[in-house]
Order: sequence, then structure tokens, then C-alpha cells
Amino acid sequence: MCGIVGYLGDKPAYEILVKGLHRLEYRGYDSSGVALVSSDSKLNVYKTRGKVADLERFCEEKDVDGTIGIAHTRWATHGEPNDINAHPHVGRSGNIALVHNGTIENYHVLKEALELEGCTFKSETDTEVLVQLIEYIKEKNNCSLVDAVRGALKEVVGAYAIAVVDTDEPDTMIGARKSSPLVIGIGEGETFLASDATPIIEYTDKVVYLNDDEIAIIRKNEPLQIVNSDNMPAAIDIKTLRMSVSQLEKGGYPHFMLKEIFEQPRTIHDCIRGRVASSGDEVLLSGVTEHKERFLNAHRVVIVACGTSWHAGLIGKRLLQEIARIPVEVEYASEFRYSNPVLTPDDIVIAISQSGETADTLAAIQMARKCGAFVYGICNVIGSSIARATDSGTYIHVGPEIGVASTKAFTGQVTVLTMLALAIGTLKNTISKETRLQIADAIRALPTLISQTLKLNDSIEKLSGIYTYVHNFLYLGRGYNYPSALEGALKLKEISYIHAEGYPAAEMKHGPIALIDHELPTVVIAPDDEMHEKIISNIQQVKARGGSVIAVVTKGDTTIKEIADHVLEIPKVPECVSPVIVSVPLQLLAYHIAIKKGCNVDMPRNLAKSVTVE
Ligand code: M6R
Repeated sequence: MCGIVGYLGDKPAYEILVKGLHRLEYRGYDSSGVALVSSDSKLNVYKTRGKVADLERFCEEKDVDGTIGIAHTRWATHGEPNDINAHPHVGRSGNIALVHNGTIENYHVLKEALELEGCTFKSETDTEVLVQLIEYIKEKNNCSLVDAVRGALKEVVGAYAIAVVDTDEPDTMIGARKSSPLVIGIGEGETFLASDATPIIEYTDKVVYLNDDEIAIIRKNEPLQIVNSDNMPAAIDIKTLRMSVSQLEKGGYPHFMLKEIFEQPRTIHDCIRGRVASSGDEVLLSGVTEHKERFLNAHRVVIVACGTSWHAGLIGKRLLQEIARIPVEVEYASEFRYSNPVLTPDDIVIAISQSGETADTLAAIQMARKCGAFVYGICNVIGSSIARATDSGTYIHVGPEIGVASTKAFTGQVTVLTMLALAIGTLKNTISKETRLQIADAIRALPTLISQTLKLNDSIEKLSGIYTYVHNFLYLGRGYNYPSALEGALKLKEISYIHAEGYPAAEMKHGPIALIDHELPTVVIAPDDEMHEKIISNIQQVKARGGSVIAVVTKGDTTIKEIADHVLEIPKVPECVSPVIVSVPLQLLAYHIAIKKGCNVDMPRNLAKSVTVE
């Protein structure tokens, strides 16, 4: 939630900051702003409601001079999205500007105390309280900016990543973090700050991930310094990024979401590369082999995640139970963290997160570690907070996912979970060699099978025209594909704003069947698997009540073709890998319906890609 960029160097800061904001816009896009320290040490702050493009228009005639600056794109938590609540916020002298990602939980108390000292506030935000507190401490103690920031952060309860500039120290930029990500890019005579590495990558591949409670002191012509909250120097661990600028562009597609759907043959190829031997059944996941005993002796697996990653977790449960014969529970991280869970050192907690920054998932991990459980992460973003907070893990390696609706990350997560189940099943000897070979073959075939499935795009585009203006959708699936139904429904509602419900097909008759009439289309996921016969009766139950059915079926399924209104044919695959293939037509259906409705699929209203607040 919210994206931060900072620049200090010799180049005009404005262009770099705005370009960085565009890259971070997936983190929030209800307002944005920039603060520049001009060459004559004045602070110019420009901010406006709306997207980064609105900020650019707003700044067209403005003085954007300066080689030091900070910028922000917001996803509102405290205070409605408007010009005043937009970041940066400034202290009352107008000299200090601050951008913030996170929430200051005790801002009411701090605000009241500052009001007693004569401070007045313009905005409704928790962030303005922080900048006023910094300024208050600086004036009261007559100290440097960094000392004032350190003093203020000691008073703060909550999560933050901040960047601060001050015209009294025009060659300094301060960054700090606690529970919200902040990356420092180290270039030649220039330094960058950002919520993730995407605004930095085209200038330098050398980065430092700030740790919790660390403060970065960035000064012109001086090496980077990092101190902890007690002002003791902290280690500076420079990492090299493995990311390219082209991965962050649309590559000829009209939207990131469509690009990411179509990238899946390659992303799944990257995900399995070097992990499933090109012949044979061996799965190599270093996160498992390095902790073999843990996996062999685990009594239970608890999967924690949110949103789409939680849906992947539900598929993971079936995979791990069936292939590795281990009991699995799947929890929403947001519920789990407050549920006083019973965890023991014999448990393995698997945390799944594309961004690796989801606040609830991170909190669940911290709780699990306190209980002594072994925590295994499945993340996409390399070096993210969750990747660093876990004992071990596997990256899904699908490249940056920019579209707010998760697509390629979901298929990557499910693929990693399939490989994980196979690796543990092999260790525990819970599956036969024949089954191992069959699943390993199916994993290796995924990129080709996804390519074949993507050929449905044109027919789905046409089909979407029929359903553009319906108000509700029902998605039904069974077994491995019940979570696919949940995920299909989530995709549709988040980008098209059509209400959609995912349900286990057999549960329909216990309630949702009451909704069915000619105005409610039902998407039924009905590949040719163990549940095929049963799901045919579910389709008949819908048809008997006047509902229309779009069925995702295995190629050549003539039975369902006769009863359903539309069929989307996917290649024949073993049941346990079918959710990966099934998700492709569901992603495309949501995409085309949303496009026909004129929705902004990459930046749907009210959402943000990475939910770093509670
Ligand atoms: O980055 P994470 O995987 O932890 O994010 C979890 C959810 O916020 C995310 O999957 C969300 O539901 C997406 N918008 C779904 O498309």
C-alpha cells in the first residue's frame, strides 16, 4: 500500500521520481505528490488527487528544479483520497517534507500531545502527525534531522517506511522502515529510495534492503550510512538485482494483466527450470533438501496467506495431503494472527505471498516463529520482507507482476506447491514411482499446455460480449477445482465490479441454487476427472432452473457440450495440475468482461497490489 520514491544525486530529481511513481502505482493510486529541494534550498511540494498522470499534468507549469526529492503514490488509510491528504506532508515551518507507507497506530495520542504544544494540522492523516513530531523534536532539541527522525520513531507505534528531506540540510535524505519495505539503490554519485526495486533498476543494480528499525542516512558525496534505533551503525549488505527494465513494461500488450496472462508459458517454464529433472521424477527444491529432517518429521502443515495466494493455499492443501500424506490446514493470515493458534515446533507453516509484503501474512509468520514452528515461504518478490522473515522457502520466479489482479503469480504458486508436494512425497515415500513420474511429466508439460489453452482468447473475447452487463455470476468447481472457482470469481469481481461467488459445486443445492434464474450465469469448472459425472448433474440442476452455463471442459467432452450453453475446451491433464490450466480461461473471461465494461483492469478501484497495512 502506497509507493515511495526518493532521489539524491546530480540529475533533475522530478523526472526520476515521477517515473518511479509510475512503476509503483500498482501499490496505490488515489493521489500522488512530490517534494523537491530546489537548488536555492527551497521546498516545492506538489500533490493532487488522482493518478500519477494527474500529478504530471498538475506539475506542467510548476518549478520542478532540484536534484533531491521524495515522492509518493497513495492508497488511502487515514483520511479520504483528496489533495490535502495526499503525500508528501510538511511540517509547520514548511521546511521538512515526508512521505510514508504504513500506519501510525498511536497517531491520535501523538496528535493531541502536539496540539497542546500549539501544532495545528491540515490533513486527516497519521503521516502529518509524524512530520510535525519530527519537526517539533528537531526544534526542541536543536538537533539534526536524523536525530529528530530517530527520536520521533521511538514514539511511534505501527508500521512505516518513510523518506524525509529538510531544507535546513539540503544535501540529506533520510529513510527508515518498520514492517513496510524500503530499498536503497546505490548508483554512481546518486542514491535512490523506493518501496521496491522497480523504480531503481534502470539506474543501478546495487541495492540494500533496509531492515526493521533501521535508519538510512543518505548525504551527497558521502557513503551511505545505516544506523539502528539506538544510533549504532548497522551492516550494509549490498545485493545485486536480477531484473530487467523490459520486465516492467507492457511489451506491446494493452494492459499488464493481459501481458501477464500471456506470459504464463514462459513464467511457468522459469518457475520449474532446474527443479524438475528433464527426464525422470526428481524434484529439486533446495528449501526442502536443506531442511529434510523438518519435512520428514513434520506433524502438520499450516498454510497462511491472503486473497489469491490463499486460494493457491487451498490447492496446496489437496496436493500436500494427497501426495505427501500430511495433514494440512489453510488459514487466512488476517484471521490466523488473532486466533491464538495452537502451533508446535513440529509444525511447518507455509506462508504464500506474491509481493512478500502482505502485513497480515508477515504478522502470521512472526507468530508462527515465536511458537517455534518452521516457516517456509513461497514468494515472488526476491528479497521481500516475507522472503527474509522465513526459515526457508521457494521463489516462484514469475517476474514482476504489475497488474493488480494476480494471474501469473497464482499459477506460479500452484506450480511450486505441486513441486513441493512431490518433493515431500518423494522424501516420505508416500507415492509410487509411477505416480511421481506422471506428476513430474505433467509439471514439465505445463508451459506447452498453457500455450494451447491461451488459444481460447478469441472465443472468450466474443463470449464476454454476451455477459458484459450481468450483475451476478456463480462459479462452481469440485475437488482441486473448487479453489479455482473461488479464484475465478475473485478475478471477475476485482476487475469488472460484477458480484461473483465461488462455491463447491455440490454445495450449490444447500442454498445458492435459490439464486439461479435466467439472469444468473454460472461458470462450471468440469474437466474430465474423478468428479466429472457428479459435476454433470450439477450442470443439469442449473439448466433445469433456467440458468445459463459456461463450462470449462476437457477437449472432446461431448456430454457437457450438449447441455451447457458455452464450453471452453482445455487440454487433458492430470487432476492435480488442472487448476493451473483451468485458471487461464477464467483469467481471460474476467479480463475481457472488464475491458468491455470499460474498467481499468490494471488498477481497479479501491484496490492496491500490495496490502502492507491491516
Ligand atoms: O502479495 P500477496 O500474494 O500476499 O497478496 C495477497 C492478496 O492481497 C492478493 O492476492 C489479492 O487478493 C489480489 N488482488 C488478487 O488478485
